[in-house]
Amino acid sequence: MFTVTLIPGDGIGPEVVEAAVRVVEATRVPIRWERFEAGTEVMNKYGTPLPDEVFNSVLKNRVALKGPITTPIGTGYSSPNVALRKRLNLFANVRPAKNLPGVKTRYEGVDLVVIRENSEDLYSGLEHIVVPGVVESLKIITERASLRIARFAFEYAVKHGRKKVTAVHKANIMKLSDGLFLECCRRVARDYPQVEYEELIVDNTCMQLVTRPERFDVMVMENLYGDIVSDLCAGLVGGLGLTPSANVGEDGIVVYEAVHGSAPDIAGQNLANPIALILCAAMMLEDLGETSAAERVRLGVYRVLSEGKVRTRDLGGSATTTEVTDAIIAAMEV
Ligand code: NAI
Repeated sequence: MFTVTLIPGDGIGPEVVEAAVRVVEATRVPIRWERFEAGTEVMNKYGTPLPDEVFNSVLKNRVALKGPITTPIGTGYSSPNVALRKRLNLFANVRPAKNLPGVKTRYEGVDLVVIRENSEDLYSGLEHIVVPGVVESLKIITERASLRIARFAFEYAVKHGRKKVTAVHKANIMKLSDGLFLECCRRVARDYPQVEYEELIVDNTCMQLVTRPERFDVMVMENLYGDIVSDLCAGLVGGLGLTPSANVGEDGIVVYEAVHGSAPDIAGQNLANPIALILCAAMMLEDLGETSAAERVRLGVYRVLSEGKVRTRDLGGSATTTEVTDAIIAAMEV
């Protein structure tokens, strides 16, 4: 029996999380869910969007499935998603982007994984006004975090039978910071002679992603490049409703969440595409060692997508979240 922390979040979060729970339950893998509310309503009630009990539960269970949480703009209430990553030391964000059967996109043959350093870079929040009209934002790159993410990327490549790691950088301009990141990637690459290693400047990477995305395999990069490039990659394979991700910590804690946000424009209407979160659940099952259950979930998703009859609005259909979930569960049983 596994115990997993469940954070439905807000906006469309509860709808897509419920869908993922139903799909996981259909695999009959024994999971006990520890469910915690988080987000705007919790903030109004308790003064924090993420009470301590949520952190304690994730620390204890080491696995969490999470829906999106809204970050209101201009309220002084900082992102609970960033807080979660910081407090649990979730340093690696893993975002696979793979063509899905039946989802027509501009590109074919995309099967890549972006590994984004999640703890430093320009996201350290160190900004100040030097003099009125001049601000400074500090980009922090450390040897420790760069070695850690590089090792994570190579280990991921080996574990998942991947052939190549591309380190993405701008060391031609940021010679010290990106230079250090690259030097760390090179050092780690020497320990993995079986994995091809290459380096690519970030602007060239973007150009090649939209001309020859099939050339990429595992990509490792700093936080800001990872933020931008991974959304670009989501776009290559059909968009936000289909893209899962995992946030991984040094001590093996993993929080699985879709790339998309809380989509307030469609929240509470049973319109959200649950597939991204269902694919997060498949990643979770695989990491828990439940490989055949993970495969059944993916197969259910692939069947429903390739049949093309039951789709949410974002994929050109008119089905509800519940109808897509029902169809996936039925397709898993075939
Ligand atoms: P968003 O991803 O919520 O929505 C962007 C567009 O994509 C909207 O039109 C939305 O309807 C659509 N969309 C997103 N997910 C969908 C799904 N599963 N099915 C169908 N359509 C979908 O991004 P936005 O609007 O920038 O952010 C809304 C809120 O979510 C903000 O408060 C933001 O801070 C938060 N957010 C939270 C994240 C997290 O919890 N990890 C990640 C990204 C944003």
